[in-house]
Amino acid sequence: MASLLSSWSSNVLSLPVDYIVPVERRPGNPVSISKDIPVIDLTHATKNDRVDIVQQLIKASQDFGLFQVINHGVSEDLMVDAMNVGKEFFGLPAKDKERLCDDSTKFGQKGGKLYTSSGQYSRHEFKYWRDTLQHHFHPLESYISSWPQKPTKYRDIIGEYTNQVRKLGMRIMDMLYEGLGLEVEDIEKEFDKYDCAFSINHYPACPDPGSALGTGRHCDPTLITLLQQDVYGLQLLNDGQWLGVEPLPNAFVVNISLLLEVISNGKLKSDMHRVVTNSVCSRTSLAIFVSYPSDGIIQPAKSLISPTNPPLYRAFQYKDFLEFLFANNAEPEAAMKYLKL
Ligand code: OGA
Ligand code: NI
Repeated sequence: MASLLSSWSSNVLSLPVDYIVPVERRPGNPVSISKDIPVIDLTHATKNDRVDIVQQLIKASQDFGLFQVINHGVSEDLMVDAMNVGKEFFGLPAKDKERLCDDSTKFGQKGGKLYTSSGQYSRHEFKYWRDTLQHHFHPLESYISSWPQKPTKYRDIIGEYTNQVRKLGMRIMDMLYEGLGLEVEDIEKEFDKYDCAFSINHYPACPDPGSALGTGRHCDPTLITLLQQDVYGLQLLNDGQWLGVEPLPNAFVVNISLLLEVISNGKLKSDMHRVVTNSVCSRTSLAIFVSYPSDGIIQPAKSLISPTNPPLYRAFQYKDFLEFLFANNAEPEAAMKYLKL
């Protein structure tokens, strides 16, 4: 059997046993789409309304750790093209995709990965119903020649897409820093230090969505993540309740992630999320992860610390945290224990 789920899942009528999730982790009762999750319009984010928009971003980050943005400046045609190319990639014949699972290819040597389930965290006792293609993209000229050659439009479209979404990420980080009162002299310079990765997640239609998960509950180990989705499946844990995140056309879902929770000394909350599958159609999502270089030191921003506001999180090297997550299957509770003082 081929290793990628997308190469064989359409041939099975029932869920293979290694995908059956223990009862306490299953999706449970259907979760409806929440209308409470903020949708923030960035149209006027460069004008007088900026202060108001910054406040909306901060409030959403505090209340939910997740929001959606619309009128964000990324070309809508490009969003459609990128989603289509992502779907086409996972629709390729197995032999065209599976070559890239081999770490010794140019793709692998440049840090690209193609894996099924949770890949590196594969010591789970069960598998997740998903495949993921992940690679770096900045600076583009260092990576583009290692990217998939099929679909033929992949490099052009994803090159432009990652460039535009990265810029959006920069604007959002700039506004979040502003809202936190953090001085960032030059966001472009700051951003150049950040490590960005792009992922396409593919969740084929699943024969038994009630017993499977696309992605287990987790918080992203990044600063922020920007996600494009067109089919329902993403859920957010808020006040102990799962909320469905509406797939809005032309919107990006933005997750506040663990590193930003630490830097903001807990003022912003990282959100815990998961992905459920469905039996009707496949679901593809595109994600841009904005995070630190692995040798970077993360700690609560000095300007947010005072005798009345002591640090709630410790200082750590990012790569040590990533190693810890790897050893602990990215369990959210273990991650929090590691980060909190
Ligand atoms: C992730 C993630 C959500 C999705 O890749 O970290 O949470 O909808 N993805 O695919
Ligand atoms: Ni995530």
